[in-house]
Amino acid sequence: MNPILGIDVGGSGVKGSLVDLDQGTLLQDRYRIPTPQPATPAAVADAVAQIVAFFNYKGPVGCGFPAIVKNGVAQTAANIDKSWIGTSIETTFGKACGNPVFATNDADAAGMAEMHFGAGKDEEGLVILITIGTGLGTAIFYKGMLIPNTELGHLIWKNNKIAEAYCSSGARERLKISREEWAGRFNKYLLHLELLFSPDLFILGGGESKYFDTFKDALTTNARVLPAQLLNNAGIIGAAAYAETHRRVSLHGLHGRHGGHG
Ligand code: BGC
Repeated sequence: MNPILGIDVGGSGVKGSLVDLDQGTLLQDRYRIPTPQPATPAAVADAVAQIVAFFNYKGPVGCGFPAIVKNGVAQTAANIDKSWIGTSIETTFGKACGNPVFATNDADAAGMAEMHFGAGKDEEGLVILITIGTGLGTAIFYKGMLIPNTELGHLIWKNNKIAEAYCSSGARERLKISREEWAGRFNKYLLHLELLFSPDLFILGGGESKYFDTFKDALTTNARVLPAQLLNNAGIIGAAAYAETHRRVSLHGLHGRHGGHG
């Protein structure tokens, strides 16, 4: 299979690389551009175009995006500029880079990669992947099937705030709390998700997953907990896989009617 370019748009960095989808690996070191502030459609599209040019790439581009994504259009904008709401990610990035772009939620992309190539491989039960970064992203799988756009980082939490404002990495930095205090908070969040969903497995990804060994002992859920095996590359690999799947759908004239989530 030809390499596919996967791009992960995050609250702090826009990262991309060529992905080998037979192996689920990056073919080159990822190229990262700090997320422009404000992260408007034009500014982020420029960063995406720079990544595509860096790899001198022609072909379908997969994009994981930090919002609810339906049919390629952003529906929310928690950690990016509000002008994204209602904007087509696929058209905006497609015009800027001159390639067809296929966009999905960033946590859903990371989840798909982990279920296929990483910590969730062959898992048949209920799996919740959480990306811990600027925001908290979630992806739920049951018997390997994704329920898209779940947004459990936006569960209403204490003082009418959302869970993401309580225990994402972004919250830890903003509130200047120790890693130990953060781990206690994150544990409470996992226990709440366990109460609601009875998962068999939590997979923890995003930037924070590289510190998994330092906080795993603070987690008291009965579900198994594993760090994302593809670490912070899961979003790039899953985005490329999404483009490969949906490129084929669009070749058959079905793009835009393929079931709703982007
Ligand atoms: C967004 C999600 C996203 C997550 C991680 C949240 O604020 O609402 O769509 O998956 O951040 O980037």
